[in-house]
Amino acid sequence: MTTLKKIPLSKRAIGIILLFAVATAGIAALLMNVFERKIEASFANKNRIQLTEDDTDPKKWGLGFPKQYDSYKRTAIATRTRFGGHGGSEALPEQKIERDPWLKRIFAGYAFSIDYRDRRGHAYMLSDQEDTKRQTKPQTGSCMHCHASIMPVYRELGEGDALAGMNKTHKMSYQELNKKAHDMGHAHPVSCVDCHNPNTMEIRVTRPAFIVGIQKLAESSAEVPAIPSIKRWREGSRKQPYDPNTDASTTEMRSFVCGQCHVEYYCSSDMPLTYPWGDGLKMEDLETFWDRTKLSNGSRFYDYKHKESNAELLKVQHPEFELWSQGVHARSGVACADCHMPYMRDGASKVSDHWVRSPLLNINRACQTCHRFSEKEIKTRVDKIQNTNFKLLQRGGAALMDLLDEIQAAKSRGATERELKDIQEIHRKSQWRLDYIAAENSMGFHAPQEAARILAEAIDLARQGQAKATKLRR
Ligand code: HEC
Ligand code: HEC
Ligand code: HEC
Ligand code: HEC
Ligand code: HEC
Repeated sequence: MTTLKKIPLSKRAIGIILLFAVATAGIAALLMNVFERKIEASFANKNRIQLTEDDTDPKKWGLGFPKQYDSYKRTAIATRTRFGGHGGSEALPEQKIERDPWLKRIFAGYAFSIDYRDRRGHAYMLSDQEDTKRQTKPQTGSCMHCHASIMPVYRELGEGDALAGMNKTHKMSYQELNKKAHDMGHAHPVSCVDCHNPNTMEIRVTRPAFIVGIQKLAESSAEVPAIPSIKRWREGSRKQPYDPNTDASTTEMRSFVCGQCHVEYYCSSDMPLTYPWGDGLKMEDLETFWDRTKLSNGSRFYDYKHKESNAELLKVQHPEFELWSQGVHARSGVACADCHMPYMRDGASKVSDHWVRSPLLNINRACQTCHRFSEKEIKTRVDKIQNTNFKLLQRGGAALMDLLDEIQAAKSRGATERELKDIQEIHRKSQWRLDYIAAENSMGFHAPQEAARILAEAIDLARQGQAKATKLRR
């Protein structure tokens, strides 16, 4: 039998061990510098908490990553800029409709004309949705996709397959799916697990509608200069579908995590939640996609019929990701997170600011890392862009009101539905453009020239329609 005896260490051995220890410490320090954020992440992860795909409660993640959690919680703080965010107290945000009265008229016949409010911080996304008066009309379960930490619910409904699960939810009522999320303990606003892999902390996308949409975009032949990994994928074997989580760069992922929700979509009980990217990311590409889409009853796709003109209209929803993709920042590799989640220095390490909000509240870290101008100068430049855009938007609203007035007048002169047909088509096209920029939340900043181009087309179309209506039955 052999026993392990204590073996006395020679001085040389001790020397070697010490040398190793010093070298190891040195290498560790170096790694800390190079990979400081990754190391911090895995350390907190392994040593303090065990996280899984079902951990939707951000509090638990906060035990491992207190700095990110602290800033994340601040999304409950009310903030306001001239065009962004919301100031008030706990009450619901100011009615957008009251500010731009023409909004009410262009949405006549749609749930949004009942209640259309300014957005506010991420902390409120689920409660604001539960409280909106739009819920007095039946809404579909699809609404939850972007307002709750819903992935475990999808997986359960799809027996492990989240996409299959999501594809069941448009047939469910909002109330039914919302109750399920509460019962399963996942009724949280967007949470850590929605953007981070719980094992590695790497950022990732989870939302099925985003993954399907971006795959269709990759499979199209549209140019997407802001997303170079799509070009790489197209030039490859194409054996596997484009997968953002493995094919995209970190820079791209820093925008994709937001593109999971800040996008144009269609959601009703008629079809699974759809992101309209199969023809590209430009405004016209989305329009083409909807024009090609059929409702289950076989008719051409539309969101609602306008109460006055009877035109089959499209309602636009917050196309931040799409408008950003057409701007010079996107082309230069500047991601949503660069401006909306900039790094904060924290001693030797960097922490991403998880207080997602208007960058104008944070110009120093959001802009001045790249732009060497004074804060005042940067503010003035943004102001100029937003002012120009705001004025064009108001002129667009006025032009569309004139079109509606003229349609009413033509009708009162006895113009028939058939005679009005092509004017209704012009109404559809003009309003899609106007609403594209009204519903986008940066007041033109994300791509100023593109926004101005879209508004110019909206105005031009409205005036063309008005001229045609004037001629009817004169
Ligand atoms: C170059 C910087 C920059 C980039 C990149 C950027 N944004 Fe913005 N964003 C802004 C500015 C500036 C505003 C205007 C803020 C205001 O009016 O207070 C804004 C406004 C917004 C708003 C409305 C904010 C509010 O307080 O109401 C949202 C939402 C938004 N951006 C989302 C995104 C998303 C999603 C992306 C990426 C697809 C993105 N942004 C990329 C600078 C940026
Ligand atoms: C799961 C969906 C989801 C994801 C992912 C998401 N957002 Fe949001 N975001 C929302 C919703 C919903 C609101 C509106 C909440 C409300 O009004 O109650 C919102 C609001 C905002 C606002 C307005 C904040 C304010 O104080 O007015 C900004 C800015 C914003 N998001 C930017 C981003 C950026 C940047 C990213 C990516 C880092 C991102 N969001 C990721 C759904 C999402
Ligand atoms: C594709 C993701 C997505 C889906 C699906 C979605 N939302 Fe949102 N929602 C957002 C984002 C992003 C914002 C914040 C930007 C904004 O308000 O324009 C928001 C804002 C809101 C707000 C606050 C601002 C407002 O418009 O009053 C309400 C309420 C709301 N959504 C309700 C709903 C309802 C009801 C549904 C289902 C019909 C729905 N959402 C489906 C992403 C989504
Ligand atoms: C809307 C998406 C989103 C959500 C939700 C989110 N994060 Fe992040 N997180 C990011 C992005 C983007 C980065 C920057 C990643 C990069 O550049 O590699 C990041 C970075 C991090 C990092 C790496 C270190 C750093 O600060 O850059 C940690 C740790 C982290 N997040 C923890 C959390 C925790 C904890 C939560 C929940 C309380 C959370 N995150 C919620 C998007 C998100
Ligand atoms: C990561 C770097 C980076 C950050 C952060 C950044 N920018 Fe930029 N910005 C650029 C680059 C690159 C260009 C293109 C300049 C060129 O190619 O000449 C640009 C262009 C601009 C332009 C002129 C083009 C246009 O779209 O009108 C304005 C204005 C601008 N930035 C404002 C801002 C503001 C405001 C912020 C903060 C909210 C910001 N930028 C944050 C890199 C950045």
